Amino acid sequence: MRTRRSTRLGFQPPAIGEEEIEAVAETMRSGWLTSGPRAALLEERLGPYLEAKHVLAVSSGTAALHLALVALGVGPGDEVVTSPITWPATANVIEHCGATPVFCDVRESDLTIDPDLVPALVGERTKAILPVDLAGQPADLDALLALGPPVVEDAAHALEARYRGRKVGSIADVTCFSLYATKNLAAGEGGLLATSRDDTADAVRAMRLTRRAGGGLYDQVVPGFKANLPDVLAAIALVQLDKLAVHGEIRARQFALWDEGVADLEGITPLARDPRDEHAHHLYVVRVDPGRAGATRDEYVAALEEELVATSVHFLPVHTLTWFRSRYPEQPALRVAERAGREVLSLPVSPAHADVDVLDAVDALRRVHARFTG
Ligand SMILES: Cc1ncc(COP(=O)(O)O)c(C=O)c1O
Repeated sequence: MRTRRSTRLGFQPPAIGEEEIEAVAETMRSGWLTSGPRAALLEERLGPYLEAKHVLAVSSGTAALHLALVALGVGPGDEVVTSPITWPATANVIEHCGATPVFCDVRESDLTIDPDLVPALVGERTKAILPVDLAGQPADLDALLALGPPVVEDAAHALEARYRGRKVGSIADVTCFSLYATKNLAAGEGGLLATSRDDTADAVRAMRLTRRAGGGLYDQVVPGFKANLPDVLAAIALVQLDKLAVHGEIRARQFALWDEGVADLEGITPLARDPRDEHAHHLYVVRVDPGRAGATRDEYVAALEEELVATSVHFLPVHTLTWFRSRYPEQPALRVAERAGREVLSLPVSPAHADVDVLDAVDALRRVHARFTG
C-alpha cells in the first residue's frame, strides 16, 4: 500500500490546458466579448451531439432550468415535482417562478427520483416534473414521461449519458446542462438547454437576452432576462468539447479504479449504475453506512482530509435546508433521501488527476477504513 500523500489532492479540479488559454486570448483579440460567433458555433456543434433539434447556450445551468420552466408557463399556484437529492438551484428556480416544489423521495439504488412514488404527487396543479440525473446516472425518464406533465431534466451531471440507448438531451421535453467549473464540459460558468420543441426554443431564445432587435429603435415583446453565454466562455467550452471523449475515458478509468478499490470495503457502497444506460461518470459517490463502516460519513471526510484527500457531498436533501424547511413546515419526512444525505460521500475524480493520484486516494480510503473497522 502507498504512503500518505505529501500534497493535497483536489476533489474535482478542472482540466484546463494551453489550448483553452489560447482560445480565450484569441476571442479577446477578436473583440467579441459577449455572445457572438463562438456561442453560436457551440450550439451548432452540440445539436447533433445531443441529438436535439435546438440547443441554446445560456449563462448557467440554473438559468437553463429557470428559462425552461418559464417557457413551459410555470407560474404562481403551479407545482413542480422534483428530487430532494440535488443542488438547491433545481428547487430555487421553481420558487423563482412563484410555483411550489413538491419533493418526491428517491430510489435507494441510485438516489434518482423514485418513479413509483411520483404518480401520487402528480395532480391538477402539476405543471412539470423535474428529475435529476444524479452523478451521471439518468433518472427513469420513460416512467416519468408516461405520467403526462412535461419533463424538464436536470442533466447538469449527465452531458455524455445515454438512457436505454437514447442520448440524454433528446428524450425529455427540455434537458438542461451546466458548464460550471467542475462539470464534464467546464467553461467556468455557463449552461445549455436542449429541446426538440419549437415553442419552447422560441420562448427561451426571446427571453435569454434583452437586446435591440427588429425595426425602429428597439422593442420589447416579452420581459427578457440576461442569461446569454459570452463568447469568452463559449471559446473555453469549444476546446473542452474537443477533449470531451478523451476526458470521458479518463474519468471512466478512474471510476473503475474506485470500483475495484471499494469492492471489499464493508459498509462503503457506490451508487448503482444501470447497465442498460451509459453513465456520464461525473461523480463517484459512495454511501458510508456507519454501522458497518465503523464511522460516520463526516468522520470519513475528516480522516481523508488528514490524508490530504479532498472529498465532497452530493447532496444534502434540499427540503431540509433552512429556506425550504421554514417555507414548507408541513413537508413530510423523505426517509430514503434523508438517510442518504447523511451517508453520501463523493471521492476525487478528474481528468486533471493522474491515475496514480486516484490510486493514492483509494489507498487513503482503505487505510482510513481499516482504522475505523479494526
Ligand atoms: C444537479 C445540479 N443542478 C443544477 C446545477 C446548477 O448549475 P449551475 O451551477 O451551472 O447554475 C448544478 C451545479 O452546479 C447541479 O449540480
